[in-house]
Amino acid sequence: MGSENWVKQVDQTGESELDFSESLVGVAMTQNSDPFELLAHWIAAAEAHEAVKEPRAMVLATLSPAGFPAGRVVLLKEASVERGLVFYTNYLSAKGRDLAECDRASLTFFWDPLYRQVRIQGLVSKTSREDSVAYWASRPRGAQLSQYISAQSMVLPSRKTLEAQVADADLSFTSGLVPCPDHWGGYSLKPLSFEFWVGRENRLHDRWLFERLEMNLAIDQRNETETALTSGWKIKRLYP
Ligand SMILES: Cc1cc2nc3c(=O)[nH]c(=O)nc-3n(C[C@H](O)[C@H](O)[C@H](O)COP(=O)(O)O)c2cc1C
Repeated sequence: MGSENWVKQVDQTGESELDFSESLVGVAMTQNSDPFELLAHWIAAAEAHEAVKEPRAMVLATLSPAGFPAGRVVLLKEASVERGLVFYTNYLSAKGRDLAECDRASLTFFWDPLYRQVRIQGLVSKTSREDSVAYWASRPRGAQLSQYISAQSMVLPSRKTLEAQVADADLSFTSGLVPCPDHWGGYSLKPLSFEFWVGRENRLHDRWLFERLEMNLAIDQRNETETALTSGWKIKRLYP
């Protein structure tokens, strides 16, 4: 089956109920598939499905210095081989502090109406300041103000304090743009593995693991990540 056909099938599932037909990931398998491309099609299908309210929501799991994993939802803003999976946040938040100590993290998507899950593991780094400032500029003023004043993950004495801080910031920036704080910006997760899960009848679900061929190299020599990203993936089927 040509790649156009499976792309079409993936898109069509956005309109149907659960798709228990022959696994589309399996079809992709036969085509030396690119997991970024497959992820893009699954996101497109989720975006096309009216029951999916946040198609780009993904759970980011990080590890604290004490070894506690922590998960929280963030929104995917960009995904490509070159840029990795990009999201924006406060660098001083709990997740920012975790990532400063341990750059290994995972991202998990789950689209309930499509009965699909994608799990991604990789290494996280900050995007450039220019990238963060450019994305900040595209945000609505209300979002900029709330992010400007938010000491994300710190204790907030009251709701009143929050609202007063936003009102103060609004007044102080009436004549100009809200500046992008130094502690706010993007992170990029460069994947070492993707797992695509498709729910099927009788719990005989399909799971396909894509592992980057240079996984060990990338872990050992983080500077090589950029080069390794352009190369291939090892694909394995897993028991459900
Ligand atoms: C649908 C949804 C989307 C979210 N998107 C983001 C996001 O893109 N960036 C972000 O910092 N927090 C986002 N949040 C809030 C986070 O889940 C979390 O509460 C916040 O980042 C603080 O996490 P931390 O204390 O673990 O650092 C989102 C929450 C939800 C439910």
